[in-house]
Amino acid sequence: MKPGIFAVRDVSSLITDTTGEGQLKRAVGATQLTAMGVGAIIGTGIFVVIGKGAALAGPAVILSFVLAAVACAFSALSYAELASTIPVSGSAYTYAYATLGELVAWIIGWDLILEYGVSVAAIAVGWGGNLNAFLDSAFGVALPDAIAKSPEDGGVFNLPAVFIVLAITLLLVRGVSESARVNLIMVGIKLLVLVFFIVVAFANFSTRNFQPFAPEGVDGVTSAAAIIFFAYIGFDAVSTGSEEARNPAKDLPLAILGSLIICTFFYVLTVAGALGIATPEQMAESDAPLAAALDQGAGMSWAAAILALGAVVAITSVVLVIFYGQTRIFFAMCRDGLLPRRLAKVNTRFGTPARLTIGLGVLIAILAALVPLGTIVELVNIGTLFAFVLVNIGVIVLRRTRPDMPRPYRVPWSPLLPIIGILFAVYLMTDLPLDTWIRFIAWLAVGMLIYAFYGYRHSRLRQAATTPADPPQRPETRGEEQL
Ligand code: ALA
Repeated sequence: MKPGIFAVRDVSSLITDTTGEGQLKRAVGATQLTAMGVGAIIGTGIFVVIGKGAALAGPAVILSFVLAAVACAFSALSYAELASTIPVSGSAYTYAYATLGELVAWIIGWDLILEYGVSVAAIAVGWGGNLNAFLDSAFGVALPDAIAKSPEDGGVFNLPAVFIVLAITLLLVRGVSESARVNLIMVGIKLLVLVFFIVVAFANFSTRNFQPFAPEGVDGVTSAAAIIFFAYIGFDAVSTGSEEARNPAKDLPLAILGSLIICTFFYVLTVAGALGIATPEQMAESDAPLAAALDQGAGMSWAAAILALGAVVAITSVVLVIFYGQTRIFFAMCRDGLLPRRLAKVNTRFGTPARLTIGLGVLIAILAALVPLGTIVELVNIGTLFAFVLVNIGVIVLRRTRPDMPRPYRVPWSPLLPIIGILFAVYLMTDLPLDTWIRFIAWLAVGMLIYAFYGYRHSRLRQAATTPADPPQRPETRGEEQL
């Protein structure tokens, strides 16, 4: 009998599945993994979305940053447990396949395309905007709107956004080790830029902008937390690279929790510093709130130019890591037959899934050329929070179904902490607007159709069960399907 849509993949088969020709190179160490987390986290959120948070919460946006960090921390523990227990490509998608079954795995994989693929397009648009702002402030030249904005924003297409997506595509095709090295340099630069901002801001600090502290009360703080949550997205990207980690048992938990802690530390100081030199209104009105804080708040336009350039570098590394995560999730979904397996072919020269990286790069570039930033942040947030819910459930379920599995890292007090993680994620989801919920449900509905018409029929797990005479090797090591 064919397994149903709730069929679960055997965890040990998931791990052994990564041996052989379909294997990615295990080339990434703890420092590079942590840098990958920081690289994915610090970007558009702190440089751009902070202004939206300040508009909603006033100076109390600093509490929103703390609230969002605490909410993430519980889910980060669950990610750390699953990433160290199942160190293969695919992140939450793979964990769901091993714990909650194929249908849920598909839903989460489709959901992660929203978190990763779609957000790359948005982040790239933010990159283009910052580049233009820097060119303008430093050299007095800016690209014309026609080639720097989406149609909805009064342009034709967004050339800088297309450029950054395609450049990162090439980098990822060349190989993760090289990409991780480039990322390490960019992460160093972005931390320096934030240190620069914090030092300048605290040297000019005044408490006058902190009054009134929470003009919109608790509601303002939680609504802002649901938006600036975007600033923390990315620590989970570390787990998408599990299969390329040299020592997954130790390095993955360290990198996931470490990158979250490092970023929270920098964020709280950055927000405090920003409020020390600028009003929430000054930040809310700008597309580059931190640069605006230096320029309008502290009257230091030279510092604002440096910061704008730093934002361009910072956002570059976010594009790199989030895009990398997307390719690895897609890779896992293709390998499982839920998406066309041919796409997951690993390039023999570079050892990377070059074909799907280029395909995704082109799609994301088209999206980035034509789509405005707008409400996409909220959509990405709801998708990510939903993934957090499922990951926490995954920890609880796997503890029950496979209590004996070696778990190099264990969430303390499970299931209490995963349950708190779920409650925090749902709480932030309910603070997002109704429109966002509608768009999210529509996205999931499209995903269900694709599963019904493609994944359900081509699933490797379900096909394998109907051909018991097959030798116990991976289907893609045979004939044309060879990876
Ligand atoms: N956390 C990432 C950013 O802020 C997505 O750009």
